[in-house]
Amino acid sequence: MRKPILAGNWKMNMTAAEAVEFVSSLKEKVKDVTEREIVVCPVFTALRPVAEVIKASNIHLGAQNVHWEESGAFTGEVSAEMLKDSGCEFVIIGHSERRQYFGETDQTVNGRVKKVLEADGLTPIVCIGEKLEERENELTFKVVETQIREGLKGLKPDDIKKLVIAYEPVWAIGTGRTATPQQAEEVHAFIRGILSQIAGEGVSDEIRILYGGSMKPENVSGLMECENIDGGLIGGAALKLDSFVSLINYCTMR
Ligand code: 13P
Repeated sequence: MRKPILAGNWKMNMTAAEAVEFVSSLKEKVKDVTEREIVVCPVFTALRPVAEVIKASNIHLGAQNVHWEESGAFTGEVSAEMLKDSGCEFVIIGHSERRQYFGETDQTVNGRVKKVLEADGLTPIVCIGEKLEERENELTFKVVETQIREGLKGLKPDDIKKLVIAYEPVWAIGTGRTATPQQAEEVHAFIRGILSQIAGEGVSDEIRILYGGSMKPENVSGLMECENIDGGLIGGAALKLDSFVSLINYCTMR
């Protein structure tokens, strides 16, 4: 039984005050939700204020990035311990926007994942996904396989078990163009297959694989009917209370 996760990746949106207002309303609207895990990932400066509001609620806090060192001369970076200290339980790693604009590679993803796992208590949400030209050149499976194998290199099955994976086809992010349920499911099933090869079937069966890329109330039903899709990493639709709440309410336990 994999419990669905609905994670809102707010990207560089909302001040601390706006974030607090948002989660205060969200908390009320989802207070009876038990069969789904709800996560919000605000900007760093809003983490602590949001943590205060959602403490003792069913909403979990996530960050959008983390560094692979514990501390030191790394201007502008934040460590896993610092995120935990701010109330985080999740952290997004390797988002395609980090890969595209900030030089993220599978190797830096690997470093971040390892450090986060060492800092027990923080769950990495590891993002993978192909670009449009890669899909058009039929490289999707190759790209995704490399991202998983390199990003998770050196991890033991017991560590891999603790991860959440997000498949986010880059061409579907913020474009309004969603992968069809068939397109998404075939990659999700493939990802589970690779995870099974590297960590064993028992582990791969337990890992939640989220879909990300223009997920919204209008397209969630087809996606969530797929056997290997265990929730969503949601951008735009998670910035609006009504659409995020309807996505949460849609997803049931599987
Ligand atoms: P959109 O839902 O806005 O397409 O963003 C998806 C995403 O990048 C989540 O991490």
